[in-house]
Amino acid sequence: MTRPLIIAIDGPASSGKSTLSRLLARELGLLYLDTGSMYRAVALAVTEAGVNLTDSKAVGEIARRAAIVLEGDPDSVRVALEGRDVTEAIRSEQITHASSVVSTIPEVRREMVRRQREMGREPGRGVVLNGRDAGTVIFPDADLKFFLTAEPEARARRRFEEERVRVQDINYDETLADINARDRRDSERDDSPLTIADDAVVIDTTELSIEDVFRQMLEVVRERHPPDEGGASNPRP
Ligand code: DC
Repeated sequence: MTRPLIIAIDGPASSGKSTLSRLLARELGLLYLDTGSMYRAVALAVTEAGVNLTDSKAVGEIARRAAIVLEGDPDSVRVALEGRDVTEAIRSEQITHASSVVSTIPEVRREMVRRQREMGREPGRGVVLNGRDAGTVIFPDADLKFFLTAEPEARARRRFEEERVRVQDINYDETLADINARDRRDSERDDSPLTIADDAVVIDTTELSIEDVFRQMLEVVRERHPPDEGGASNPRP
């Protein structure tokens, strides 16, 4: 039996990773693992416990104990924390910010990476995983790596358009400032900063539609892993 494909997709905030990972996972019949939602769940647990976000010892302990479960199809993944559905709660502005802070803590990263490797290696299933360190740290030996990027202004514009449906008092300048701050924290942290793997296929999505990017990614998958070599050929029912 051929080894199931592992496809790692990294990139900065709001570069289209989640949407494209979902589409790719569905098309190829692979598991979808959104690693960012795990850092978000830790951030929620820390916030609810009233613990200081930068208290690495206490935050690390919470991360180690947190029962985080991701389940469902790529299009309808639910995130549970201690058995409670937190899918929506982890998307708030407050938790978005908190996750960006707790994800700089090495103890938290160590624990999440350990779990992500376990989940991604689930026997018999391939995986599309997205994050900041999917192709550099979690699975440096992934079959295929993509790095999606876009100008900060384009990413802020997308996020602003998405968010303003839900949130009334959002404004573009603040969204852009937040994207820039998250980029800085992602790129400047000591532990596993956001970097482009040497063997990653880099796609700048600034001027591209989701459909364009999806087509490009699918082409690369089919080229590098033709259906008769297994992996990309057998969508699960
Ligand atoms: O992708 P996202 O915005 O849902 O991720 C939430 C936070 O977690 C973000 O600030 C970056 C961080 N993160 C990380 O450090 N490593 C990952 N593999 C995924 C996310």
